[in-house]
Amino acid sequence: MDQREKDLQQAVEQWHRRGWPKPWGLVISGSGLAVDLTPPTHGPIPLAELLPFPVRSVVGHPHSVEMLLPHPERPVLYLRGRVHAYQGYDPDQVVFPVRLAALLGAKVLIMTNAAGGLDPQSHPGQLSLVRDHLNLSGLNPLRGEPPAEWGPRFPDMTAAYDPALRRKIFAAASQLGIELGEGVYAGLAGPSYETPAEIRMLQVIGADLVGMSTVLEVIAGRHMGLRCAVISLITNLAAGVTDEPLDHEEVLHFGRAAATDVQRLLNKVLAEG
Ligand code: HPA
Repeated sequence: MDQREKDLQQAVEQWHRRGWPKPWGLVISGSGLAVDLTPPTHGPIPLAELLPFPVRSVVGHPHSVEMLLPHPERPVLYLRGRVHAYQGYDPDQVVFPVRLAALLGAKVLIMTNAAGGLDPQSHPGQLSLVRDHLNLSGLNPLRGEPPAEWGPRFPDMTAAYDPALRRKIFAAASQLGIELGEGVYAGLAGPSYETPAEIRMLQVIGADLVGMSTVLEVIAGRHMGLRCAVISLITNLAAGVTDEPLDHEEVLHFGRAAATDVQRLLNKVLAEG
């Protein structure tokens, strides 16, 4: 058994000792999007208690974990904040919570992230549901020999972003009067933002959104059979799409402004189960 398998097995045992219910779903929120979801039933505990490695904080990324019971039969594990590859975590560490939830029986993974908009018509504060991704991070959590029980050696990624779950999210947004776009997310390693030339390349190859998270988690989630969805908040137009330089403060600012919409949308989707 390799180390990642041992760490996960220990985390599963620790989960049972903690006495929290098995999650039906896992929600992981991104930059400035760590909204209150309801109703909480357990926690919060620090994310570091869930992960078998040291967790470093980034400004604006609170890290805590709680359980929610938005639907009587569907407990949800909620991570307020995540760890990123650009912080120096390896892909197995980045996807650890996804694998833990899957091993505990979770069926659904919903994440939010902050993204740059590649369409000149897009504007900061807009929400967009990811339809597909381009994994340009150079990383893959399935490298090596993941245990065969976790999933296929060469997992199909045709419907990585679950069509039925996306329909459900669109329907909920429409009922709430929340404008929700749709696009292809290019996941890069970061942490430098892209150059204008890189952004032109991304536009040519079919990306609508660019960011530094979530693709590894979706790959690991699909591998283990989770139905995945990702909601991106466009916090800025990508480099060169406007003359404005990119600024992490701006990313956080638009995160806070759109947080209420994200909160309403997630609460409704989770309550409907
Ligand atoms: N590029 C990459 N990641 C991002 C951006 C961006 O423009 N905005 C928010 N996250």
